[in-house]
Order: sequence, then C-alpha cells, then structure tokens
Amino acid sequence: MEQYVIKGGNPLVGDVEICGAKNAALGILAASVMSDESVIIENLPDVSDINILIKAMQSIGVVVEHIDRHTVKINSSMISSTTVDSVYIKKIRASYYMLGALLGKYRKAEVALPGGCNIGSRPIDQHTKGFKALGADVRISHGHISTQADRLVGNHIYLDVVTVGATINIMMAAALAEGKTTIENAAKEPHVVDVANFLNSMGANIKGAGTDVIRIRGVEKFHGTTYSIIPDQIEAGTFMFAAAITKGDVMIKNIIPKHLESISAKLIEMGCQIEEFDESLRVVASKRLSHTQVKTLPYPGFPTDMQPQIVTTLAICEGMSIVTESIFENRFRYVDELTKMGAKIKVEGNSAIIEGVSKLTSSSLSAPDLRAGAALVLAALATEGISTVDDVVYIERGYEDFPEKLRSLGALIEKVSSEQEITKFKFKVG
Ligand code: EPZ
Repeated sequence: MEQYVIKGGNPLVGDVEICGAKNAALGILAASVMSDESVIIENLPDVSDINILIKAMQSIGVVVEHIDRHTVKINSSMISSTTVDSVYIKKIRASYYMLGALLGKYRKAEVALPGGCNIGSRPIDQHTKGFKALGADVRISHGHISTQADRLVGNHIYLDVVTVGATINIMMAAALAEGKTTIENAAKEPHVVDVANFLNSMGANIKGAGTDVIRIRGVEKFHGTTYSIIPDQIEAGTFMFAAAITKGDVMIKNIIPKHLESISAKLIEMGCQIEEFDESLRVVASKRLSHTQVKTLPYPGFPTDMQPQIVTTLAICEGMSIVTESIFENRFRYVDELTKMGAKIKVEGNSAIIEGVSKLTSSSLSAPDLRAGAALVLAALATEGISTVDDVVYIERGYEDFPEKLRSLGALIEKVSSEQEITKFKFKVG
C-alpha cells in the first residue's frame, strides 16, 4: 500500500501553482459529450477522479486525445452507448454527471450508482426530482440508475436542499430541453458557474449561475469549443492552511482570490497575514495562531471541503474552537487520527469542540477520505517527528503532485511503498 512519509517541523516557504478545479472539471468533462463537434478542455488537473471519468467516457465510444498533461481534445460524435457501466464509473461520485449529459443529448442514460468518499449518505433524490420535472422517467435497480424521456420540456424546479451535483446535473439536462427551465435554490459554487460558462461556450443559453436562481432556455444542439477550467478553490485553500499550520510564508499562484474569501477571512481571524494580488495571494503565519468558530455552508460560506484542514490547524491554535459541519453527516472520522497525535477534540453531533494544544506528535495515520487525508498530511507537517499517512489513493483523487508541491515549499515528504523506503527516508532526513 503506498504511503506518504513525512518529517515535520519545517515552515513551508515559497511559491506554489494551483491546478484546475477537479469539481468543475468533472462536470465539464461530462458535459463535453453533449456536442458532436470537437471540444478542447485546458487546465485539467491530472488527478485520478479525472482520469477515471475519462476512461469511463472512452468506454462508451468518446474519443479523448491528450494534447498535453492538462489538455484534452474530446469528440463524442461516435458514442456507441448511453449506458456507462464500466468498472471505473463505480469508483467516483461524479459518475452521475453522465446521466444529465446523456439524458440531455440522447434523451436516455444509464449509469452505475456513484461511489466516492464516504463522508455521508450522498443521496441523489434531487437529481432525480429534476430529471422527472423535465419529463424523464427514472428507475433505480441493480445498483444502476436509468432515465429516459420521449421529450424533455423545461420546467420550474425548486431544489429542497442546496446541492452542487443536482444543480449541475439538472442544468445539463435542461440545456438541450425544449423551452425554459428555472432552477431555484441552486448551488452557487465557483464550479457550478464554470460548468454553466462551459455549456454557454458550446451554445447553451444559461443565465444566473452563481446566484440561487438559474434560468435556462433550451437550444437545439451544441457546437464545439475550447475552454479552460478555473483554478481549484479547495487545492488553494489546502495550501493556505499548510502555510498557516507550519508558520510559513507561501505565495499561492494561479488562483481567483474572490473564490477564497471565506477561507482568507478565517485565517486572518486566526492571526495570519494575507496579501491579495490579481491571480495570487500570500499567506504568512509568524506566530502561534488563535482559536475561532466556523460553520461549513454552501458557497460563499466556508466550504465543507475545507473543514478537515481548519479543524487540524485549530488543533494547535491557542484557545477553544468550535467547527460545525452542516453539509455532510459523517465528515469527522479523521478526528480519531488527530487524537493519536495528541489533539484534544471532542465530536458532539455535527460539531467538533477543539481545545488547542501547543503541538502535535508524529504518528502513523490513515486517510479516511480525500480532504481528511490532505489534512492529516498538514498535521504531520506541523509535528517535529516522522509520520506516515497511508491510503494516499484518496488524496491522489483530488491533488496533483501533492508531495512534490509540498517538497518545493521545503517539506520533507516522500511517497513510499515499503518499510525499506521508509528506513531510507529516515536515514536521509536524519
Ligand atoms: C460536491 O459533492 C463535491 N463533489 C464535494 O466535494 C463537495 O463536498 C460537495 O459538492 C459540497 O460542496 C464533486 O463536485 C464531485 P452536494 P455533491 O450534492 O455534489 C445533500 C471533494 O472533496 N443532497 O452539494 O455530491 C447531500 O446529502 C468532494 O472534492 C441531497 O440531499 O454534494 C449533502 O448533505 C467531497 N440530495 C448536501 O446535499 C441530493 O440529491 C450537499 O451535497 C443531492 C445532495
């Protein structure tokens, strides 16, 4: 099993380049099958979730040509099936985006039910509610969800919860439906806006993305496009907290500062200095940080995908902090791992009560999911000793070159797959 081995204690210092947003890229890749003309997508992150979705698309006849590590050329004119059943598709949550894309274009789709991180029940009732409102029927059986419609007709859809996935999925299906669709209580995340902008670049007519009311006028068909994915808000936020927890000084480059406002605000409250530029921002943490309170909320609130990172950082801040997780019901499983490092955190319901300690101690750690895995690496960077983090396959779902980027900032971290390599690392770092 591949692991990261980390010798903590070094403040992170230097520049780091942020990749394209994984959660925008997943929706955009799926939506690209809705055009019969060639689509070029730039700034794709080279992470396993993306590569798995590409393989699943290829399994139904989509031609995907890699122009370079971060650019693909896609042609979906020869799709052979609207049933996405490959072994790949069960591995990722965003498989459900193929439903909205194929339903919109071919009026039918069948996809194996999603996999993904186990941070909660992850229902898809709002996705199916939207498809049904557009005139499709939906069936779930044998671990598959299938949907088909003689006609897709626009409708007024009010989402019962703010959901990124359902907002994107319904937007895709409605973009090629007949007439007008309104999605109320829509998610406003930057990646929802990016998918809407991508669809519009293929000829869709979508207005209001980024607000809680999205208005879509269906069009006949899409043309080709060339589109560049926005920077990843969560990768950027993770490196911001890496700078904070190691008392470092890091310039985070290729970002959109507006997307990071809630994260910057919290870090400033905790005692960091943050300097914003057009496409970058600098995080400096020169002293022990202090406590704060935070509740995860849909955008523009503090992102749930940053919850493990802020809890981990607050574990060594002065004072008592409370972090409330309002989006998912099982997103504190990593706290047991922090406890092994000497953290004093009590999880009560959907809140973590954190009594800051002066330092954490190294340990062997297990990543329970993508963002918690990244947070445990941050915890290890803040100790004096040598830690290991296993199940890095989770981390590599959403972070491109994570160890390499951290090493370029002065971290002592390597990916290993044997005890012998760990021994070599220990000898090397002394
Ligand atoms: C997306 O998941 C992201 N994943 C998640 O990021 C992110 O945590 C989440 O949005 C919230 O921002 C991708 O984009 C691939 P939701 P998604 O639908 O779309 C409930 C990461 O680390 N809900 O916005 O699955 C749901 O239970 C991942 O990159 C319903 O009740 O999340 C949750 O409580 C982890 N019915 C809330 O809505 C539905 O039909 C938000 O879920 C759909 C969702």
